[in-house]
Amino acid sequence: MFAMARCTTLPSTICSIFAPAFEMRYTVPMTTPIALQTEYGQIIHADSLAYMRDSLADDSVDLIFTSPPFALLRKKDYGNVEEDKYVEWFRSFAEQFHRILKPTGSLVIDIGGSWIPGQPTRSLYHFELLIMLCRKLEFHLAQEFHWWNPSKLPTPAEWVNVRRIRVKDAVNCVFWLSKTPWPKASNRRVLTPYSDSMLDLLENGYHAKLRPSGHDISDKFQTDNGGAIPPNLLAIPNTESNSFYLRYCRERNIKPHPARFPARLPEFFIRMLTDAGDTVFDPFGGSCVTGEVSERLQRHWTCCEVVDEYVEGAKGRFHTERDDAEVTDAGYYKILSSAALWNGIEDDALAADGGRTRPKSPQSQNNQPNLTIQSRGMQEVTTHPL
Ligand SMILES: C[S@@+](CC[C@H](N)C(=O)[O-])C[C@H]1O[C@@H](n2cnc3c(N)ncnc32)[C@H](O)[C@@H]1O
Repeated sequence: MFAMARCTTLPSTICSIFAPAFEMRYTVPMTTPIALQTEYGQIIHADSLAYMRDSLADDSVDLIFTSPPFALLRKKDYGNVEEDKYVEWFRSFAEQFHRILKPTGSLVIDIGGSWIPGQPTRSLYHFELLIMLCRKLEFHLAQEFHWWNPSKLPTPAEWVNVRRIRVKDAVNCVFWLSKTPWPKASNRRVLTPYSDSMLDLLENGYHAKLRPSGHDISDKFQTDNGGAIPPNLLAIPNTESNSFYLRYCRERNIKPHPARFPARLPEFFIRMLTDAGDTVFDPFGGSCVTGEVSERLQRHWTCCEVVDEYVEGAKGRFHTERDDAEVTDAGYYKILSSAALWNGIEDDALAADGGRTRPKSPQSQNNQPNLTIQSRGMQEVTTHPL
């Protein structure tokens, strides 16, 4: 068995690395324990910083895909780093990421924004992180993506629902970084279905002409490439409610991980940036979604997670009796053009104090009976196919 110790009492360098930033309750193994081994991968129950230093060779990983703890105001059970300490905390992990990545490899970080306590303005912590990664550690920003979760609830309630002075925060930044300007990649791996208008164009042809933007739409656009090239906006709902993972946790009285991302998020990047047989690493593994997708796509993978309960739950993703297929949706969303529900220029004047004074009754603000849809410009947003 592996020696275990309570992080709050263990005077080891492992814990002191992140103890100042985290208030966490978990046990940290003293050696490198493999909590689970599968055909393609392994769950490591350990602090990933120590694991990388001790066990991962230079230039050995094709893709690091991860969602680190965010600098959230409302803390999760596993602890979150304070906003002003975040970049410093992340730096030692990032140095290891740079060391272990192959020159053709990619680092993809899913990171949510945060708010300044007590006021309706945004923290810059994730942008500061990006600047540090590129300016200090010499990562290249291959491309920034935005993960839009259409099922996200309107938060923070005070600014969005009560004072009505901000819109709901439904997009995470996903930074795709690389060690050189030339990470291996192909967008052919992540095509989306053609829109109805494109299918029509492919079938009935197009009269080449100059677009208002000045682009010359030539007949090259009539070539059927098997699907459309997706944008850097990834529309993926996060609505898992009855998966094998959740049932596995429930039946064993294990608390499910509170901040899981949907499988389609790692799947997009694993497909686009790695080949079968390549190596994928998730240093903040959580419930091991990255491992589950990598296993299905036959990539060698390692997920590191420090909280024992999350490791126990993650094992359910690889259970032999697993009976659920990947949850799919219709594959596309229809969204209204922004601010389409607008009634011309005769609105009430905006609050001159910018919403500083809290409304007496939030309901009193809902007196907007004359709004009509001015534009019915429905736009299709295609999500990437599985
Ligand atoms: C945002 S969650 C990741 C959730 C995961 N993507 C999923 O879908 O289940 C971040 C995780 O990192 C873990 N963590 C934080 N510091 C760590 C460290 N030094 N080593 C390993 N795991 C760590 C936390 O316990 C938490 O489970």
